[in-house]
Amino acid sequence: MCGIIGYTGTRDVAPLLVRGLRRLEYRGYDSAGIAVASHMRFEVRKEVGRVADLERSVEDGLEGISGIAHTRWATHGGVTRENAHPHLDNEGRIVVVHNGIIENMAPLKTRLIAEGAIFRSETDSEILAHLIAHFYHGYGSFGDSIIPDIAGDPVAAVKMALSRVRGTWGVAVMFLDHPGMIIAARNGSPLVIGIGDGETFIASDPHALVPYTRRVMFMADGELARLTVDGVETWRLDGGTKTSSIETLEEEWGDGEQGDFPHFMLKEIHDQPEALRQCISGRVLVEDGTAKLGGLDLSPRELVDIQRVTLLGCGTSYNACLVGAYAIEQLARIPATAEIASEYRYRNPVVDPRGLHFAVSQSGETADTLGAVKEIQRKGGAVMGAVNVVGSSIARTCGRGVYLHSGPEMAVASTKAYSNMVAALCLFTLQLARTTHLSAHAGREFAEHLQAIPGLVEQYLANPGPIDDAVRWVCDSKITFFLGRGVSASVAAEGALKLMEVSYVPSIAYPSGEMKHGPIALLEKGSPVICIVPNDPLKAKTASNVQECRARGARIIMVHTAGDPIAELADVAIPVPETLEWFSPLLTVLPLQLLAYKAGLALGRDIDRPRNLAKSVTVE
Ligand code: F6R
Repeated sequence: MCGIIGYTGTRDVAPLLVRGLRRLEYRGYDSAGIAVASHMRFEVRKEVGRVADLERSVEDGLEGISGIAHTRWATHGGVTRENAHPHLDNEGRIVVVHNGIIENMAPLKTRLIAEGAIFRSETDSEILAHLIAHFYHGYGSFGDSIIPDIAGDPVAAVKMALSRVRGTWGVAVMFLDHPGMIIAARNGSPLVIGIGDGETFIASDPHALVPYTRRVMFMADGELARLTVDGVETWRLDGGTKTSSIETLEEEWGDGEQGDFPHFMLKEIHDQPEALRQCISGRVLVEDGTAKLGGLDLSPRELVDIQRVTLLGCGTSYNACLVGAYAIEQLARIPATAEIASEYRYRNPVVDPRGLHFAVSQSGETADTLGAVKEIQRKGGAVMGAVNVVGSSIARTCGRGVYLHSGPEMAVASTKAYSNMVAALCLFTLQLARTTHLSAHAGREFAEHLQAIPGLVEQYLANPGPIDDAVRWVCDSKITFFLGRGVSASVAAEGALKLMEVSYVPSIAYPSGEMKHGPIALLEKGSPVICIVPNDPLKAKTASNVQECRARGARIIMVHTAGDPIAELADVAIPVPETLEWFSPLLTVLPLQLLAYKAGLALGRDIDRPRNLAKSVTVE
């Protein structure tokens, strides 16, 4: 969702900010804007649409060495140039970019208007520009409280303004009186400070900073910072003393560049063998038939004491949780469930203190998943992260967990992160099951098959089968069905989600056995039904459901284990290599990812940035 980049130093700031916005594009946005302190005024440019459009509008030259910029994903107010950030106060001397939501916008706006503030947008964010100006210009008390004289003090003005708003913010503010200074504050929306040599950066995402510096400071909620060319000073808004410290970003595997691929999504599908190797390597102990996830920091004694495992995520991450829960329950014989984080956090869940929770997230910033983590922690539960982005809010809030090591995932539709979530949860399953009752022999078999997965993924991607035939049918259909049983039911859910988000083809996923309890009414002659039927103990059951669909004239697209005669039931059969039941999602999902990609391409969709979607969903 929204992205922030800011800079103060000695470089030409406009191209630097535009480059930063480009590196934030993947988060999803619908408009963009930039403000540069230039010749004693703030030059502001905004555009609806792509950062490339904004880039054109700054080509005439925006001279300056400090500025802030923003990509906006609309919440309050439509997608218009006026609503794009940055926002200015009346006199154009204070400029603000903001991520998050100001919940008490209405009363604040009424008061500010009464005092003469002129609002030029419908956004909640513009409140901040006027409110900060109010205190900075020393207009005295606001409402009925008496405030000290803080006129002319940027830090105090921002602090005072933030003490009057309710909601979430990642905010960067500049004052024309102090053109080389940026004030930043965080509460619920991530911000990271980059520290260079005679230059300082602020961004909502370290990805925007890595071309310039790896020395960073992740701001904590409730923190405020003053950035200048000389470095950074931080405070806590509540007056406390503990503030963030400087860290060095690890080298990320993968560079987040598109390479020769036409789209990030296709590149990331093809990244999967290497991404899986990065996730598995060093964590599988074949000889002992177990796995070791050091970041969990759980002793065998603590592992055997676990009474229940709860996996939480949203969207694709939830689909990965379904696979993990299935594997844990089957192999470790411990009750395990997958939960949609946005539902879980608000249903006053019973948190078992002897249970273990995993928050599963690519971005590590999903507001709903983060909210669920905090709710579990409030209720005394233990929660680990299974997160891709190092240093993200979920990773930091959990404190312990497993990094996915997918490398940067830039396409909005998640592919390689899904696979690494499944792989990481399989590693945990092995570690847990081996501690409880799995024999060394069975553990070794599991470990060997897991290690073979990256090679099998590579083998499939080199020869993906007749995807194009399936694409034609899917693109011509009103609705596409996805069916699977057991662990494949969750792969069906992931296939349908991927197809919907990338191609906008209406898609529905059901556990095969549920089809006859309702959705079969939608079947028409020629309806495409995508059946995920790997060679597992439930195969024969799914075959019966396939027959039921065939009998009603459906076109069967089947993802099956290579060499299995079940393929004879299909109109289009897509074979994948054989593996153990638990790992089959890592192979059966591949044709579904390619199908979604190719359907999106055939229908002329914006593959890497589907409409209305964001990569990092930081609002609930
Ligand atoms: C689908 C997709 C989304 C995300 C969901 C959770 O392709 O990408 O459904 O999976 O928004 O995001 P993370 O994993 O960042 O918590």
